[in-house]
Amino acid sequence: MNSKSEIYFYGRRKGRKISPTNLKLLNDSSYKFYLRHDHLDESKLKNYNKNILEIGFGNGENLVNMSLKNPNDLFIACDAYNNACVKLLKQIVMKNIQNIKIWPDNINLIIKKFKKNFFDLILILHPDPWPKKKHVKRRLLQQSFLDDINRILKHEGKLVISTDHDEMKSWIIKQFQERNDFLLEKDKTYFENKKPQWIINTKYTNKALKKNKVVNWFFFKKS
Ligand SMILES: C[S@@+](CC[C@H](N)C(=O)[O-])C[C@H]1O[C@@H](n2cnc3c(N)ncnc32)[C@H](O)[C@@H]1O
Repeated sequence: MNSKSEIYFYGRRKGRKISPTNLKLLNDSSYKFYLRHDHLDESKLKNYNKNILEIGFGNGENLVNMSLKNPNDLFIACDAYNNACVKLLKQIVMKNIQNIKIWPDNINLIIKKFKKNFFDLILILHPDPWPKKKHVKRRLLQQSFLDDINRILKHEGKLVISTDHDEMKSWIIKQFQERNDFLLEKDKTYFENKKPQWIINTKYTNKALKKNKVVNWFFFKKS
């Protein structure tokens, strides 16, 4: 495995200064809801119906909705942007949500620590497109990352990806054509503008729809 120093993150880690109120929230509650490597062995994580991972949750609207509707499932919420994590923590505390654990950092710093065949579902909604040719390496969906995703998904576990970005859409198709350990769900292929009802609109979906852009949905199954 790469050492921490070899795992790069391209994107925003820090935003506005954390306010004193949010600092207090972090002091009071992050120990309960922020995931640490040593939590992964805890039997606590085994007592849920399904294990779901959302990578790059942004404002967390979909996670909050899904976790409230599915209180017996475990949701692991990952975003490297610390203000996004504090925002989600705030909602967890306000809404008394018990089934979300936040990984407040780069997914690549924890992905190899998850047990094999652990997740039933992984969501990556609007991954950063990094459209410039010279930034292609910064895209999250690289072959080595998909190896990790495949390892942590259960057999027939689902991977859902959305994007409104044409270059990213082509990139996704190309990345998955290069391998045979994910099946694009045949009857659905990818279908434009057809978001499943159980996923609610995120900030980036709303942004795209406002500009009359098509949002593409990809449903893959681990084969
Ligand atoms: C374009 S935004 C999409 C946010 C949200 N999913 C939505 O649909 O509104 C991408 C998000 O992914 C996060 N992100 C990008 N690379 C990441 C990584 N390697 N690990 C964790 N989060 C990452 C960013 O911080 C950002 O919040």
